Amino acid sequence: MSAPAVHARGLRKSYDGIVAVDGIDFDVTAGECFGFLGPNGAGKTTTMKMVYGLAAVDEGTLEVLGRDVARHRREVKARLGVVPQDENLDKELSVRENLLVQAGFHGIRGAEAEERVAELLEVALLTARAGARTPELSGGMRKRLLIARALVNRPDLVVLDEPTTGLDPQARHTLWQTLDELRAGGVTLLLTTHYMEEAARLCDRLVIMDHGRIVTEGAPAELVTRHEQPHLEAVFLHLTGHRLDT
Ligand SMILES: Nc1ncnc2c1ncn2[C@@H]1O[C@H](COP(=O)(O)OP(=O)(O)O)[C@@H](O)[C@H]1O
Ligand SMILES: [Mg+2]
Repeated sequence: MSAPAVHARGLRKSYDGIVAVDGIDFDVTAGECFGFLGPNGAGKTTTMKMVYGLAAVDEGTLEVLGRDVARHRREVKARLGVVPQDENLDKELSVRENLLVQAGFHGIRGAEAEERVAELLEVALLTARAGARTPELSGGMRKRLLIARALVNRPDLVVLDEPTTGLDPQARHTLWQTLDELRAGGVTLLLTTHYMEEAARLCDRLVIMDHGRIVTEGAPAELVTRHEQPHLEAVFLHLTGHRLDT
């Protein structure tokens, strides 16, 4: 048995007295796609930021890829890929340069970097746009570039915070396929979404978060059965008393 990709117990985080994550427990199994589903303000991004080392953990245990994040930040980061909710591409650089810079961060340079970047441009369907600057790309292309950038170091775990928010259905489907391929290649995926359909389509298991807490956990189909609801949307309403978009 390999260690869980992420192991969290009693995880808590506040910002100036406002509780963002209110003591949550979860385990992500290596190789699965694990989702955090919840409305705006539920605490999804804060949880992701703790996992990828951008936000400090206030209380609780958090191990990522078998290591305590607070004590082994560098090592953990080297094995992670991150697609943040807020796009942070360099607008002054081309698509290709954005990837090369990231390769440099990971100590990949020269011919090896060129080769890796060429490979990732193919994965992201961006070879033809390699010379474009990022503001010239569509939203879907920028998300694919963010994913490609997260893969430069061949991570074991990729954290994706709302990877498809704001994308049209076509771009969303393309992205789902990319995520399917990653998962088929053995990469563990941790993603957040407020789209029920997306959670049901992509996630092996998910948690539903509301007001900083996990209200339920399971495989999408299992949740629907257990709570005797027609679909995930209804499970959410049943458990929280409000709709996902309110
Ligand atoms: N940097 C921050 N400073 C202050 N409050 C924050 C910060 N980030 C998040 N919050 C608050 O924490 C709560 C959870 O936010 P977040 O984790 O972004 O939720 P989600 O990603 O599910 O929308 C919200 O009430 C939000 O306003
Ligand atoms: Mg968020």
